[in-house]
Amino acid sequence: MNCASADLRNEHEGILFGLEILEQMVRTVKETGQIDINDIEDMVNFLRLFADKCHHGKEEGLMFPAMEKVGIPNENGPIGHMLIEHNEGRKYIAEMGASTENGALNANRFTEAATDYFNLMRAHIEKENKVLFPMGDKMLPMEQQAKLLQQFEEFEEKVMGKGTHDKLHETLRRFELKYFNNV
Ligand SMILES: [Fe+2]
Ligand SMILES: [Fe+2]
Repeated sequence: MNCASADLRNEHEGILFGLEILEQMVRTVKETGQIDINDIEDMVNFLRLFADKCHHGKEEGLMFPAMEKVGIPNENGPIGHMLIEHNEGRKYIAEMGASTENGALNANRFTEAATDYFNLMRAHIEKENKVLFPMGDKMLPMEQQAKLLQQFEEFEEKVMGKGTHDKLHETLRRFELKYFNNV
């Protein structure tokens, strides 16, 4: 059976792919000064829903509390550190959202917040994949892992709603075709 972290590692792959597209959007804005503003809004929506509401929601509401119970420290420890970074990420997403507020793009505001965001998140994901999740894999009993996987499924249905995940993956595929012509 899979460890509960397998589901979260899988989502990391989706987020990392989203970050590649985000970086390409930043390049496009810097090089051409132009971009379809709807794409930025859709990207912000993807990050809000997929990366934050769904993925960080599962970590903060389910995975981290289970890890804390088996003795992985929160405050001044690895969990607390991850929580601080989630909040930092939220600020950058809000900044990206605000950069299109008046129907026109504030290019600097967008490129700065987006760059801060992908740098933060790439390092954050690496820390979870290489440090925190391996700790949890070792310390959480298998029954607890199975329960978490079940709770993740329920979370997706209740909090995200059926089909939301698929729609967000479709958004990524659309961006892939538009921003990387190699498919
Ligand atoms: Fe996280
Ligand atoms: Fe994560």
